[in-house]
Amino acid sequence: MAAPFNPPTNFDSKPEVPKWVPPAAPTEDLDYAKLRSIDLSLLDSPDPEVVKQLVETAKIAIRDDGFLYLVNYGINLEQLHRQFSIAQYLHRNISEEDKERLHWDPQGGLYAGYKPPFGWRTIKGKYDGITQFNFYEEEYKSLDKVPTCVHPFMDEINAFTEYLTRSVNKRLLTLLSKVLEMPDDYLYENVESKGPTPINEGYLRHALFHPFKNEEKGMGEGLRMFGHTDFGTTTMLFSVPVTCLQLWGRDGIWRYVKYAPGALVINIGDTLELVSGGHFRATRHRVHNPPPSQETFERLSVVLFNGSKGDLRMQPCWDSPLIKREGCFESQGAYKEFKVLQDKGIPVPTNKEWREISIVNTRHPTDEPEKLLKEVTVNGVKYIEVINQGVRVLQPL
Ligand SMILES: [Fe+2]
Repeated sequence: MAAPFNPPTNFDSKPEVPKWVPPAAPTEDLDYAKLRSIDLSLLDSPDPEVVKQLVETAKIAIRDDGFLYLVNYGINLEQLHRQFSIAQYLHRNISEEDKERLHWDPQGGLYAGYKPPFGWRTIKGKYDGITQFNFYEEEYKSLDKVPTCVHPFMDEINAFTEYLTRSVNKRLLTLLSKVLEMPDDYLYENVESKGPTPINEGYLRHALFHPFKNEEKGMGEGLRMFGHTDFGTTTMLFSVPVTCLQLWGRDGIWRYVKYAPGALVINIGDTLELVSGGHFRATRHRVHNPPPSQETFERLSVVLFNGSKGDLRMQPCWDSPLIKREGCFESQGAYKEFKVLQDKGIPVPTNKEWREISIVNTRHPTDEPEKLLKEVTVNGVKYIEVINQGVRVLQPL
């Protein structure tokens, strides 16, 4: 059995952290995306039939939706809310000096550091009401890289990250390796990054979406982030009541993801779509304004983005019996576009190149109009077209 999360509890020796209070769920009856739930504890079941059923559910969820709820993964609600309280504390207490000193530089290909609420470029853009602190390897290595106000809590952030990457994600990748009919450690050992800190080549994000004031409501036509796929292996988003995340369904309709207390919302990144030859779907998603009943609420968000090994150039796992038997799915996303290059004998980008260029090139509602101009229509659907190192990426609006 996997050990449950056992974080430091030396709260008495630390500054008091006000408790994060989850806001009320929406009162509207919304057309939610119907996602499947995976009970990760069942992976430890001694009954092979139970595990087989779990693998089957995971297979369908990642093929059809590319998203799933993960439950019973080892972190309880109280432990999770403590991490939200720390994230809230960071946003409320980060000093002006630290905001300046730790200012991010996304044009360099990393989101590391503090994002002020003025767009997604290194220089100040239009107001977007989104502040973040992003912890990469360097932030885990050195206290100088993180806001002074969270220094006393880095032991807890470290333990939380380590449990997510080395236990939860490892077990999740075991399950996904089983879907590929490969040895249990295949994805964790061969695709997932490893590093000297708990975050490896991924990053942890503490984000705060400030509610728009009345005069700001029309900004970005209600969108806080355009549709995109994530570039890594798996993304772990802790479900929150303020309902903003939307998925792009196979029917071309955007639907909200419903709040599930304590659940982790998992989505598949480009790397796993490529390794699985399209059997796993890197589903497009975006951040929309919440429904009217939550318009005045702050949305606090804690997300862990697991990173793939930076020096690898991804291709389908040809040893997978699933791929040998059923071939690859060439109709979608990053896999389809990488294949165009591979068929021409052109090297595809490495994982590190892919994630850096994705960060630099992703379009945002706050970008200047000339950056947003490259609109194309495919099968009646409007997209923004971006070329990343020779790979065409279509972002639905
Ligand atoms: Fe995302």
